[in-house]
Parts: sequence; C-alpha cells; structure tokens
Amino acid sequence: MKPRCFPLQLNKAIETKLFKRLRSVPFPINGLSVYSCFSNQIDMKPGHTTKYLILTLLLALGIASYAQRIIPQPAEMVAGKGSYTLPAEVTVSASAGLDIEAAGLTAYLKETFGLGSRKTSGKAAIRLIRDPSLKTGSEGYSLTIGKAGVKIEAATNAGAFYGIQSLKQLLYKRGVVVQAAHVTINDRPRFAWRSYLLDESRYFQGKELVKKVLDEMAMLKLNIFHWHLTDDPGWRIEIDSYPDLTRIGSKRDSTVTGSGPNRRIGKAHSGFYTKAEIREILAYAAARHIKVVPEIEMPGHSSAAIAAYPWLGVTKQAIRVPTHFGVFQDVYDVSDPRVTTFLHNVLNEVIDLFPSDIIHIGGDEVRFEQWENSASVAAYKKKHNLSSSADLQIFFTNNMSAYLAGKGKRMMGWNEILGSKIHDYSDTRPVTGKLAPNTIIQFWKGELDMITDAVSKGYDVVNSYHLFTYLDYSYQSIPLKKSYDFDPVPAGLDPRYTAKILGSGCQMWGESTPDAAAVYRQTFPRIAAYAEVNWTPAASKNFEAFSRQLEFFLQRWRSMGIHAGS
Ligand code: ACM
Repeated sequence: MKPRCFPLQLNKAIETKLFKRLRSVPFPINGLSVYSCFSNQIDMKPGHTTKYLILTLLLALGIASYAQRIIPQPAEMVAGKGSYTLPAEVTVSASAGLDIEAAGLTAYLKETFGLGSRKTSGKAAIRLIRDPSLKTGSEGYSLTIGKAGVKIEAATNAGAFYGIQSLKQLLYKRGVVVQAAHVTINDRPRFAWRSYLLDESRYFQGKELVKKVLDEMAMLKLNIFHWHLTDDPGWRIEIDSYPDLTRIGSKRDSTVTGSGPNRRIGKAHSGFYTKAEIREILAYAAARHIKVVPEIEMPGHSSAAIAAYPWLGVTKQAIRVPTHFGVFQDVYDVSDPRVTTFLHNVLNEVIDLFPSDIIHIGGDEVRFEQWENSASVAAYKKKHNLSSSADLQIFFTNNMSAYLAGKGKRMMGWNEILGSKIHDYSDTRPVTGKLAPNTIIQFWKGELDMITDAVSKGYDVVNSYHLFTYLDYSYQSIPLKKSYDFDPVPAGLDPRYTAKILGSGCQMWGESTPDAAAVYRQTFPRIAAYAEVNWTPAASKNFEAFSRQLEFFLQRWRSMGIHAGS
C-alpha cells in the first residue's frame, strides 16, 4: 500500500537546519515505502518540507533511513527491505578475467572503510560474475544486494566494472560496520558515447590532473576521454619524426589569464606529454574502461605546428606560438604534398600510440583567407575541380578519412567539416562536396536542424551543443540544472534517427583555466549532470534526487582536494 504523506510547511530557517542535519545522516535506505513516499513528495512539490519532517519522525523512532540513489541513476532500481552488513574481512569471488575490476573494488573498500578483503573461490560476500551469455549488453550489469550478500553480473568486464561503481555509492558506514541496503538493479546506458574533453593546448595540466579526472569519469560511468592535444597555443604530444613540434610548438613566451580580455601576464607557458607518459595514461584509462580519443587539429588551429615548421603554413613565413587565444589565420597549406606527408606521419605515430578506433581531426573554425590568397592553393583547387574553400576543406578531410580508414580507423570532426556555415567568416558559396560517409560529426554550433540534416544523410552524431555542454562557460550561463536538463536527442528529431545520436560530450576548453583548481571548479559538479544526461533513461531523471545524491560526490571531491564550482 502506498504510504500517505501529509504536507506541512515549516519555517524556512528550521527547514534549512533540518535539511543540513539530514543530509549528514550517514546511512541510507530502509524500506521502499519510505522511499516512494519521499520521491512522490519530491516529484510533486519540490522544496516541500514534508519529506524532512517524516524522516525526522522516523529517525526519532529509530526505524527510518534515507532513500539512496546513484549518479548516474540506473535504468531500473528497486529497493528491498533490510540491509546487508559486510563481514570484517570481505570475501570476494570473481570470474576469470575480472582481476583488475576486483582489485579496484578491494582497494576502494580498504581506502574508504579500512576493510580488508580476501579472494575466494567459495561462498563470498561479494560475487563478481562475468558471463558472456547474459543479456546485459556491452556495458550493462545487474546488481543484487540481499541476505546472501552482493552479486554483480555482467556479460562484459565493462559491465562488471560499472556494477562495482554503483556498489561503491551504495556502501555506507554505520557505527563500526559497513552496510548496503537491499536492492535490485538492472542497468545499462542510454548512450554509448559519454565523453569529457580536456583541452591541454591552451594550458598544459599534466598527468596527475588527468588521472584524477579519469578516476571521477569512471565513477560516473563516462567512457570517453576526448584529449585535445594540439591547437594554436601549444602542441602537447611528442612526435618522434618531428621533434620541433614539442621543442618549439609546446612553448609560448607569454600567456594570458582567463580574466579580462586577453590579459597578458608575461609568464612563459610550456608542457607536453612524452610517449611514455601517454602510454601510462592510456593504461590508467583502460583499467577504468575509458577509451582515449586523441584530437589532432587540422587544417586550422595549427599555429603551434606552423611555428615549429613554417613550411606547413600557406605563407611559409616564420611565426611564433601565439601568446593569446582566439581563431588564427595561419592554417596548413593543403596544396603542398609535404604537408600531406607530415599529417600522415603524425597520424601514423598517433595511431601506433592510441588503441582507439576513432581519431578526431578537429576541423573547426578554419579561416580561409590564406587559402583564398594563395596561388598554389588556387591551382590545387582548379586541378581538383573545387569551387570553394569549404569544398577544399571537405576534399582535404575526405583524403584524411580515407587515410585513416586504410589504417582501420574512423574519423571524427567538429560539424564545420560538413561545410556548415556557422561563422561570420564561413565560406558563403554553395558546398558541392560530400563528406566521407563513415565520419562521426561532433555537433557544437549552429542551428539544431543541422543535426537532423547530418543524421538524415547517414552520419552518426555526438551532440556537444555549446550552449549546454561547454564547461568553460560560467555557471551563470550554464548552471547545474541546465547541464542536467540537456537532452542529446534534439526535440522533434524523427525517431527513425534517434539511434544516430551516439550521445554527447562535455567540453573543458582551456582558455580560462590556467591551473588545476580552475579546471576542477568548471568541471565539477557539472560533469556529474552530464553523466546522468548520457546514462539515465530520460524518464528516470529527477534533478531534486540527483542534487541530494550529489552530496556523496561533493564530500568525495572535497576529500580529494577537488573544490567544485557553483
Ligand atoms: C569548438 O569549440 N571550436 C569546437
């Protein structure tokens, strides 16, 4: 029977005090009825005080608890009655091949609760089962917590890993023991593409920050680290065949702070990843079921490379690595065969390093003035029967796509690679070229019907619409609720095309984040909202409930030295 809840208004100050007290209650769930009573109240009357009052009364009677949730909220989660207490030494059994996932769990139990654990092939408190015949999908899992303990089942390692991430949020300390409320979860993601972009060209952050971000991505079930490694103000990846890319291209004499338009602070900035460091990060990400997709910008956003090797540029003139941020005129001379060879060689080394089946080639914000003014480019366009610069970009992009396809890789780029006219400097002439069919389009700017246009032409799309997903934007322009409410499937999209939306990304562009604290402030807590955007069925989203569970992460982040923004 559905419990009845009686609305009652409390004085605002008392409510706030009570709420603070209750949020610090260290133990969750006991009883589906209490949970459903609360969630009904929350859904029906946000901000209502009833839930706090009932909880207080139940606490006073010693029978109550707090409805637990997970971020991202699972597809199906049914609370049971009672709770399971982990033994003082936790026994863990794991199917063959789940050693890394099991080790991650036992490390968490030790670090968070001081609980020791032991592997067993017999009866175990926590059972991790991988069985390819299960119908949990490539990333789904089921998690049961009952009298017999904890059971996580999945068809894949990724699924088992995500089951463990959910379990971590369900465990709590009560007195001297660690417990989890009885629950049954059947879960799988809404979208396959759940990415976080880190721009390290503007400011190099280094591997400790990257690892911290990867840890939190994993906990939130984000699965793609989109690593923006090259751009105008810095080249950040070691390339053996072109050492000046990092010797020259990774350094700038001066830089700007985020506050005030292009304010120079006169301080030099530099940094890049060696191949050994990249391999270390790739291994770290792989252990957390995160694919690293490198982005190597072409043919624009290439000033740092041109500063290293001036023959890469259209003018062939020496330039310096820019000391401010923006969109620059210097672009690759795509008519020069040496440039094609250079890009192929760079891609070869990138492909050797990154196991990702997808390589991102940028392609955004290309200024065409240098191409328009170049006799060599004009002759090249004539030879290939190309009537506009946008068509030349498509021709160039298709050649790169074919090159990558020959290496078994799929190309991805920002939506300008379709020839979209989204800037005041875009080529206004009609576009006749057709982008290679297997390309993934990352939509960031323009009218939303450009997404419809792309999917109806057969392209897969990752929706990173800047007005909703750019982490460099202030909390005034993208508050947490706006991040949370984003739907990667644009309203009105013909359901035939829904499957062409692979998911979405959140983008930490680096212009105004010179240090780790700034990256954390912009990233957290919005990254948690994007996790739920990409994982949770739209109908199960609930911002109030999400906000309550966010307390778990805010505490966790504080303990790690991550101070979230607001
Ligand atoms: C972009 O923000 N230029 C993709």
